[in-house]
Amino acid sequence: MRSDGALLRTAGPDDLEALYRFEVLCFQEHRFRRDHVDWILRNRQALTLVEDGPEGVEAAMMLLFEGVVCRVLSVAVAPDRRRRGTGTAMMHAAEAICGERRVSTIRLEVSTENLGAIEFYRRLGYRTDGVLYGYYSWGEDAYSMRKTIMSAEPVAVRRRAGFIFRNK
Ligand SMILES: CC(C)(COP(=O)(O)OP(=O)(O)OC[C@H]1O[C@@H](n2cnc3c(N)ncnc32)[C@H](O)[C@@H]1OP(=O)(O)O)[C@@H](O)C(=O)NCCC(=O)NCCS
Repeated sequence: MRSDGALLRTAGPDDLEALYRFEVLCFQEHRFRRDHVDWILRNRQALTLVEDGPEGVEAAMMLLFEGVVCRVLSVAVAPDRRRRGTGTAMMHAAEAICGERRVSTIRLEVSTENLGAIEFYRRLGYRTDGVLYGYYSWGEDAYSMRKTIMSAEPVAVRRRAGFIFRNK
């Protein structure tokens, strides 16, 4: 859990170059295409949150809202900032937002090969509810994971997440 009050902001289409650079930095292979990042940034059902650092984006999370379900399309932390609780704080921020939007479930897919991310999600309380064979275009399988959200006290959850939100 973070207690340093890191600043999260909502990203928009103007952030495309910075976010695509960050995508390349964080994902060695099998990253989102530039036009897919652009589509997410322009999609009204999607929300991209970023944490900026002195040298650009340090963490980013892309969410897609589908009724009472929120899908985590991506969450990533710059390689030199990992294992300091940033990813956890971002996911807690997602839960806070879901609480405010009366979203009851967070879903995600993760490659069965991405053992670090699987452990990260499990520790956050996500449970596997299926295997999606050949889910990715490059042939890897994915686990479908989900977590039910308690939407009672979004402000408290937000505070616990250790982030201060601001609009761009
Ligand atoms: C997955 C990711 C977002 C985690 O971010 P992070 O800021 O490093 O995560 P946290 O510091 O909050 O980790 C919390 C816990 O999750 C688990 N965890 C996180 N990364 C892990 C790893 N690589 N291997 C095993 N467990 C891991 C640990 O239990 C960790 O607690 P600990 O550090 O006290 O052991 C980050 O590793 C990342 O950006 N990876 C590349 C992109 C990616 O694969 N994203 C997920 C699929 S879209």
